Amino acid sequence: MQATLENCLAPAKLNLFLHVTGRRPDGYHLLQTAFQLLDYGDTLHFSLHPEPAGPDAPIVLCGAIAGVPDTDNLIWRAARLLQQQTGHHLPGVNIALEKRLPMGGGLGGGSSDAATTLIALNHLWQLGLSRQQLMTLGLQLGADVPFFLFGRNAFAEGVGEQLRVLDTPKSWFVVLEPGVMVPTPTIFSAKDLTRDSKPITIADFSSSTIWQFGKNDLQPVAARLYPQVAEALAWMANQHSQQQARMTGSGACVFCAVADEVEAQNMVQAVPPKWRAWYAKGLQQHPMAEYLPIDVPIEVNA
Ligand code: C5P
Repeated sequence: MQATLENCLAPAKLNLFLHVTGRRPDGYHLLQTAFQLLDYGDTLHFSLHPEPAGPDAPIVLCGAIAGVPDTDNLIWRAARLLQQQTGHHLPGVNIALEKRLPMGGGLGGGSSDAATTLIALNHLWQLGLSRQQLMTLGLQLGADVPFFLFGRNAFAEGVGEQLRVLDTPKSWFVVLEPGVMVPTPTIFSAKDLTRDSKPITIADFSSSTIWQFGKNDLQPVAARLYPQVAEALAWMANQHSQQQARMTGSGACVFCAVADEVEAQNMVQAVPPKWRAWYAKGLQQHPMAEYLPIDVPIEVNA
């Protein structure tokens, strides 16, 4: 059995648009969104324990996030879920996390860490779960986790788990972190959230200038509750009037697409020091794709 898997990337995502089209009886919201993977994210390292394996073999997290107990951490919960669902004699594992993505940033950091954990441990523990099985497990951890296991940019519906492959044009993105953590449930439960965007088709999206398509229905709520988000949006829109500045997910981060790396660098350099900002290239597939079993039918932009 291979004992280590190092430098496993957990990429960030952007929601190019995000429409809330309804609400399920259980309170979860029905969405339509376009997920774009970025060449920027967290890094995880996995190493199996030498001690004898067992149903309660330890899962040890190093570099854990301050203030988040292990049992609430999505990495730990992903490993435990996989162990409980499949494991009798699996060895324990050490997982080291290099965190770059902000919590409550709308970049899918926690969900991506969880997905990378499921992919890496499915490989190291030699479980042989299909991608669909991993996605079903992932959905128990969070609505965005199945997307990261899907492995491609995606047009998503349902609560974010019904996914179709999207081929997006090559692009660079600038991302600005407004320095505030936005709790997703607060935004979804706000009274003034509009929940009746008209459903669109994937063709409506694909045939448009996709960086400017639609809107993020969660943005007005987050900008009202967190003035830092509104300020970051205003700064970015002012810098880059041709393209839209938009919030990703339920916030707090805001982004825009730019033509090339030079433009991206220039914008990042102009960002006031009170904010953290960075740029990244859009990816076409998940950086861990070689470890993902291929069993989801691939239909592009259809
Ligand atoms: O699934 P996840 O843990 O990311 O969601 C966090 C919270 O955001 C949920 O508990 C729910 O309140 C809200 N949410 C929602 N509809 C979605 C996704 C999340 O209402 N599609």
